[in-house]
Amino acid sequence: KQAGKILIISNRLPIKIERQDEKLVISASEGGLATGLGSIYNKDNNLWIGWPGIVPKDQAEKDFITETLSSLNLIPIFLTEEEIAGYYEGFSNEVLWPISHYSPTYANYNTDNWHCYQTVNQKFADLVQLHCSNEDTVWIHDYQLMLLPHMIRQKKENIAIGYFQHIPFPPDEVFRSIPWRDELLRGILGADLIAFHTFNDTQHFLDACTHILGLSIFNNNLQVSGRTVYVEVYPMGIDFEKFNALSKKKAIKARSREIREHFSNRKIIVSVDRLDYSKGILPRIAAFEDLLLRHPEWKGQVVLYMLVVPSRDTVDQYKRLKDEIDRKVGNINAAYGNNDWTPIVYFYTSYPVEELVALYRAADICLVTSVRDGMNLVSKEYIACKEQTDGVLILSELAGASKELIDAIQINPHSIDQIRDALSQALTMPKEEQHERMAASIALVKKFNIHHWVDLFFTKLKEIKMQQGKDF
Ligand code: UDP
Ligand code: G6P
Repeated sequence: KQAGKILIISNRLPIKIERQDEKLVISASEGGLATGLGSIYNKDNNLWIGWPGIVPKDQAEKDFITETLSSLNLIPIFLTEEEIAGYYEGFSNEVLWPISHYSPTYANYNTDNWHCYQTVNQKFADLVQLHCSNEDTVWIHDYQLMLLPHMIRQKKENIAIGYFQHIPFPPDEVFRSIPWRDELLRGILGADLIAFHTFNDTQHFLDACTHILGLSIFNNNLQVSGRTVYVEVYPMGIDFEKFNALSKKKAIKARSREIREHFSNRKIIVSVDRLDYSKGILPRIAAFEDLLLRHPEWKGQVVLYMLVVPSRDTVDQYKRLKDEIDRKVGNINAAYGNNDWTPIVYFYTSYPVEELVALYRAADICLVTSVRDGMNLVSKEYIACKEQTDGVLILSELAGASKELIDAIQINPHSIDQIRDALSQALTMPKEEQHERMAASIALVKKFNIHHWVDLFFTKLKEIKMQQGKDF
């Protein structure tokens, strides 16, 4: 049992508040961080601090939001329009996101945005300070808050701090491009335990600390001004039971059948992701078109059901990507479709989890083509919804999940040929082979679930603090 409480800190809370017809409406947030951790934080007197996704119009609205969220153990941090533009869009999503996803040409280094990133990290630190005591454990999530571990450490020397990065950590020579890389690394190093999804991410982070900061390393531990900082690989799991139980519910099974019937029992290839250039949405569309061209026997027999969840569409690269997807999908549907068949069924919206599960259940194939992805929880969710063990996962080898889901058909997402051939293989895969592969994947996703991941992290953090206690 934990001595103090656990404080989860992330940029985004697991819920978001939106203004609809002058009313405030709460709904679940999208993205792997929120959906994964959403299942576990709400226990004991634990707290989650983060942004509720809205700029309140006055103090009364702020108070209302704070009060409403407090019953859910959530503490909102309010950001101004300028902070959203500088810290969130400008620095987090126009520097750290592209750099971490190996796309340095998309990075936009702007000193004002960097200053804003510092200011907002300090704002988080001040709020954390108000809510935590020395016995508590602070668990910081993701790249928007890289400076926070150090800022909290400065105020509370002995407090337990963990940092988990949900996105990849790039090779040190890519990270080196950021003019403020030293400060960012020192920021993360305020934590006692730092973890990533894959071995490569961890290795890249250690390389950056040794090559850029000149730190020494011993057994994967770093020596930082007399403190030992531990760096580990903890691949994140999903709430298997939640997805699996939902997929077996009568109403969801019925909805799933309805989806299949709607598409006249054609083969359904599903893809689900946020609008993001890291997800490889354009190569996916190109490969699907190539399938129709080279395997005309599939014309009229298969649909690509693409759910694209709106994300960061105020950032230039994202806006451009959206236009390009709209254009490509329109062209393909116009060129190949007919009265009875629309090749690509495309939605730009988000679904409630029940509808998502019905869709996963209905789909013959789940196609994940990320050109870079920290983990990719969608691939695990698809597997968790496959009670019958029918279905095939096609998974990019450049997504963290590929290290675990070795029974998927793995592809290099930059190769249109490979994606097309994988589609063709999946569409004709014998049932027995589907069952074999799926059963192995289900066992893995079930075992290494979100609870397992949380336990690993906290067990290690506790062990580190005990060791530190002995060292005093
Ligand atoms: N998701 C969602 N609403 C939707 C579609 C997807 O909340 O309409 C969730 C999905 O269930 C998954 C997450 O968004 O948990 C996406 O996580 P993933 O790790 O695949 O990618 P990320 O968005 O974190 O890059
Ligand atoms: C990924 C990131 C999260 C982020 C999510 C949604 O999962 O790792 O930190 O919250 O995408 O993106 P957004 O910018 O809308 O928070």
